[in-house]
Amino acid sequence: MNNKTLVFKIDESNFADIISKAARILKQGGTVAFPTETVYGLGANALDPDAVLKIFEAKGRPADNPLIVHIASKDSLDMIATDIPPIAFELMDAFWPGPLTLVLKRKSVVPDITTGGLDTVAVRMPDNPVALALIKEAGTPLAAPSANTSGRPSPTTAEHVISDLSGRIDAVIDGGAVEVGVESTVLDVTSDIPAILRPGGVSLEVIKKYVGEVVIGYTDQAVEESDVVRSPGMKYTHYSPKTRVVLVEGDGMAVAAKISELIDSYSEKNMRVGLLITDETAKHVSADEMYSLGRRNVPEDAARNLFAGLRYMDGMDVDIIIVDGSVKCDGVGVAVLNRLRKAANKLIEV
Ligand code: TXA
Ligand code: MG
Repeated sequence: MNNKTLVFKIDESNFADIISKAARILKQGGTVAFPTETVYGLGANALDPDAVLKIFEAKGRPADNPLIVHIASKDSLDMIATDIPPIAFELMDAFWPGPLTLVLKRKSVVPDITTGGLDTVAVRMPDNPVALALIKEAGTPLAAPSANTSGRPSPTTAEHVISDLSGRIDAVIDGGAVEVGVESTVLDVTSDIPAILRPGGVSLEVIKKYVGEVVIGYTDQAVEESDVVRSPGMKYTHYSPKTRVVLVEGDGMAVAAKISELIDSYSEKNMRVGLLITDETAKHVSADEMYSLGRRNVPEDAARNLFAGLRYMDGMDVDIIIVDGSVKCDGVGVAVLNRLRKAANKLIEV
């Protein structure tokens, strides 16, 4: 456990200096949170078991939930992965740097703690200049899960990281709000037919153009216990604010009507209601606290807003959070609905 977490606010004028300071911490086996294009990650030297242990301790992460290894150049692949199939290289050419994580056969240089004891390793090249410079300067691949306390919504700003992990990590680089807002798509390419283990920043439709057939290897349910889980992260409760979440899914008008009915019934019980709501639904209802998910038909908006919205409501002392699930379930919208369903205590389909 550390005592003081350094906060490095990075901009063009101090870029090289901050990267060098943060990289020094990583080289000494410390932990540094940094922005990626998807969410903030909590980085440590992926090849140093003692450093990686600090990530698990800071997050309170179960030991069998493996970490994604972040690289800045394809040259690093040879060191950590083996038997890489041709389709993996095609996907890297198409999507790296970017929000696609590939599960590959691992080499033994990657310690068990990083992969949760699996014989595979998840690898991605983030599309963010701070992340890429940091990995390069650290001179080693970085293991980096989302920089939140395990089970909480992923952090999309440095403030979110600080609120969860201050005093538990060595430093955070504040590079402003992220662009995508939901995590990378995780694709296992170790079997003949690739499997999507987590929907994310790169959409299923686009991946299918490259791989043809894919197996859907994830569930939208917050599964508590299961024997067969291909991606160990799937079995844990996820993205949950402290407050109870009710998700209302369906066609726009029906969702608005249902939300209005719910607000009335909660208000009658003197409950303070928080709403995460699309701009269109917001024209029909209002509640004690409102947070915009953006435009209903532009799922990129909801992707950028959803984790911040869940965290905002936790700070607002509401008794219940109602989430407008009329967001278009297309492209990154598939990942948005997946995260919302996992965060929800109750799903109402109208
Ligand atoms: O966008 C992202 O992927 C962010 C940023 C920081 O890069 N990272 C992230 O990491 O979301 P994390 O640890 O929160 O999620 C990693 C997911 C988990 O569901 C984990 O189970 C899965 O990837 N995973 C990691 N290694 C795996 C492996 N070898 N096989 C199957 N699943 C794996
Ligand atoms: Mg995570």
